[in-house]
Amino acid sequence: MKGLILSGGKGTRMRPITHTAAKQLLPVANKPILFYAVEALIDAGISEIGIIVSPETGKDVEECVGDGSRWNIRIEYILQDQPLGLAHAVKTGRPFLGDTPFVMYLGDNLIKDGVGPLVKRFEDEGPDAFILLKEVPNPSAFGVALLDKDGAIVGLEEKPAKPKSNLALVGVYLFTPKIHTAIDQIKPSRRGELEITDAIQQLINTGHRVDSHILKSWWLDTGKKDDMLEANRVVLDEMTDVSMLGEIDDATRISGRVHVGKGSKLVNCIVRGPAVIGEDCLLESTYVGPFTSIGDGARVSHAEIEHSILREKAQILDFHGRICDSLIGVSVELTRSTGRPQAFRLMLGDDSKVEVV
Ligand code: G1P
Repeated sequence: MKGLILSGGKGTRMRPITHTAAKQLLPVANKPILFYAVEALIDAGISEIGIIVSPETGKDVEECVGDGSRWNIRIEYILQDQPLGLAHAVKTGRPFLGDTPFVMYLGDNLIKDGVGPLVKRFEDEGPDAFILLKEVPNPSAFGVALLDKDGAIVGLEEKPAKPKSNLALVGVYLFTPKIHTAIDQIKPSRRGELEITDAIQQLINTGHRVDSHILKSWWLDTGKKDDMLEANRVVLDEMTDVSMLGEIDDATRISGRVHVGKGSKLVNCIVRGPAVIGEDCLLESTYVGPFTSIGDGARVSHAEIEHSILREKAQILDFHGRICDSLIGVSVELTRSTGRPQAFRLMLGDDSKVEVV
């Protein structure tokens, strides 16, 4: 079994943050989203992974993830010249995949329970393809499956205006090489893309067996700012790796699950977990509330920050205000000179400079 992770795309729904970075490299609990996909595949026993990248962000993805040696596996990068759809990405990955069955994992998706049990089921039960579904309140934003009363798939549609069910296709798929023939038989959709949803439908139309599993645990597609914050919340909520590797003074109070990285210093702060503070951060007279991730090298003073992601080297100095539900990019400088305390909800791209007066 091989793994194919899709990490292309332009991330238009996450601008300005994605003007300077691939959305799959944005951190959730201080770890790039893409790492969760790689680690889920490794946990399922997969040691050969191909990552599909785009010309825009491929180099960054490769630099960040590396050749796999840090996990003792092999990672290969496959360039998809143009964003022509998920099935087109599989086509591009064909030389890497050969005739091996594979798990395709969309690099901006996160699922709670990993893929190990699904791979086992796929291998034991031997369908031609195996898809994951999840009940969602907004099915028209996804591929949608209609099942009959016995749970067999009747049909699939990509982002239908009038969805026939509330079961969305989750971005984790298990395929036998039969998918390649199906992909060769489909045509681009209305949005001009070769849809994986259509290829799976084609498998069904040509008499192949496609099984499905309805996820009960959480699934997140981190396409937008609020999805990122929700992913950060859910992952921090389950965080177990909690260590105090930095320094705190006597006036600092920490409660709940809080991880502080090495080289970080907290002076006169209150931190309420779950929260993660990276390495070499300096926090002074600051309140860090639940569901907050603070990236390496960040500096915060006289501020309150809660339910937010503050990225590496960001600086919020002498702020005297509250920041919540915010995503603040790398090396952002946020200052505030006067005014009574207020609350701010922000999405600031890397290197922004903001002065609230
Ligand atoms: C893609 C698929 C869609 C699936 C979704 C899951 O959509 O086309 O069927 O439900 O991923 O994240 P996209 O996110 O590329 O719009």
